[in-house]
Amino acid sequence: MSAESRIRHPELRRKLMSAEDAAALIASGSTIGMSGFTGSGYPKSVPLALARRIEAEQAAGRPFRVRVWTGASTGPELDGALAKADGIEFRLPYNSDPIAREKINSGRMQYIDMHLSQVAPVAWQGFLGPLDTALIEVSGITEDGSLIPSTSVGNNKTWLDRAERVILEVNRWQSEALFGMHDIYYGTALPPDRVPIPLVRAGQRIGQPTFRCDPHKVVAVVETDSPDRNQPFAAPDAVAEAIAGHLLEFFRHEVTKGRLPASLLPLQSGVGNVTNAVLAGLMDAPFGNLTAYTEVIQDGMLDLLDSGKLALASATAFSLSPAAAERFNAEAHRFRDRLILRPQEISNHPELVRRLGCLAMNGLIEADIYGNVNSTHIMGSRIQNGIGGSGDFARNAYVSIFMTPSTAKGGAISAIVPQASHVDHIAQDVQVLVTEHGLADLRGLAPRQRARTIIDTCADPVFRPALADYLARAEAGSFGGHSPTLLDEALSWHQRFVETGTMRP
Ligand code: COA
Repeated sequence: MSAESRIRHPELRRKLMSAEDAAALIASGSTIGMSGFTGSGYPKSVPLALARRIEAEQAAGRPFRVRVWTGASTGPELDGALAKADGIEFRLPYNSDPIAREKINSGRMQYIDMHLSQVAPVAWQGFLGPLDTALIEVSGITEDGSLIPSTSVGNNKTWLDRAERVILEVNRWQSEALFGMHDIYYGTALPPDRVPIPLVRAGQRIGQPTFRCDPHKVVAVVETDSPDRNQPFAAPDAVAEAIAGHLLEFFRHEVTKGRLPASLLPLQSGVGNVTNAVLAGLMDAPFGNLTAYTEVIQDGMLDLLDSGKLALASATAFSLSPAAAERFNAEAHRFRDRLILRPQEISNHPELVRRLGCLAMNGLIEADIYGNVNSTHIMGSRIQNGIGGSGDFARNAYVSIFMTPSTAKGGAISAIVPQASHVDHIAQDVQVLVTEHGLADLRGLAPRQRARTIIDTCADPVFRPALADYLARAEAGSFGGHSPTLLDEALSWHQRFVETGTMRP
């Protein structure tokens, strides 16, 4: 395929260059706003060239590091390569790369873990400093210089508007049928000029299909032909299937009670094998005409769309396994009218999540007996990924659901603990908690009732007696309390794990 067919703007075609030449335009110390949301739509060539340049500079004794903003996590050619070169000084708003995670946890890389809906407004507020370069993957450039997004939208609109200069990667691997699938809304002025977002249904389009971009700001265009790279999903195991089963039963019950319609409400589904098992379970469940207003479209959603169970899905990115991505690329035209990708500021917007009444389903690391949830920090200290969009959805959802296996590390760790070692979602934002042992509907319960329900329903039977004993002694303690706590014991389970390798008494 010729450059003409993907890059239709003559002036921008004249800016075609190699990834090495484009990377040479980036100075040490600069801030780069990159595209990318999960392993989708991230630049795949210039970051690698930049990593090589950083390694060469550092080998020559010249320090070279950059600040990287993205939509969320990215692929190994971006976070992995730049972290390996020790080239990232500062990173936001989400990371799942193992090398970058080590740098963050060792203090070598400064990292701000942010609610994903807040990144764009915070960038516009200006206190993160100027944005030197936007480095954005697109699937094409139109005759008038508008940019056709690729498989993620993320914060690209904001990076393109805020950056002093723009480097574009035009990826031929991305399907040309993506054109028309995006909905880029430009009405997001900061207060006091803010206006209500005119979206009242998950499938509504309120913007335009392309990004605006001043061609004079574009300093380089690089052609690539590289696949998105997301991890393949494991087939759901018995634990994931049990969790999905409890949740689907809960939905059936809510429909029977008249608290949810038979088409449910717009689904938000976090990433991971458990949520994918829920999506797989929906295939045979007695609900139809479903909709999704969510952050990422993963394999299970594509299957639901295919089967007709899911009428449409709105998100900010795809997060498809390699096999599903190939399938989507071959058949993208079939999905075009039923998939909408939006800026993450809109896909995750609290105003819209509350208005649409999303059913939020997210994973967790641990929950305490009162239902406070830790989504991010292992043993209260080491970050795993980040809060991502879970807070955007959980606080504002119609029903906020968190799901987890009841134990981790082969049964050594209880996911239900006396006190969470870090809290991302306070008890008020956690209405339903599900493990393979059962589903705790916490709505309308006071803290002491929540604690009993969570212990009896969600905790692994091995840990239940110790949790019940803790609660009984906390309740009987002379200090009493609304959420009774034994201060000297509350984190002793974590301490025991750190010292002995198990939380088991
Ligand atoms: N204590 C210590 N370690 C724990 C643990 C616990 N209670 N629970 C899980 N872990 C470890 C696992 O053992 C695993 O470690 P490993 O990588 O060394 O094998 C790691 O944490 C990840 O656990 P896993 O069970 O594979 O998690 P997952 O893929 O289901 O993801 C979260 C769970 C919480 C990490 C993930 O959902 C997340 O990042 N959430 C926050 C962002 C989010 O919700 N995004 C979606 C919003 S739209």
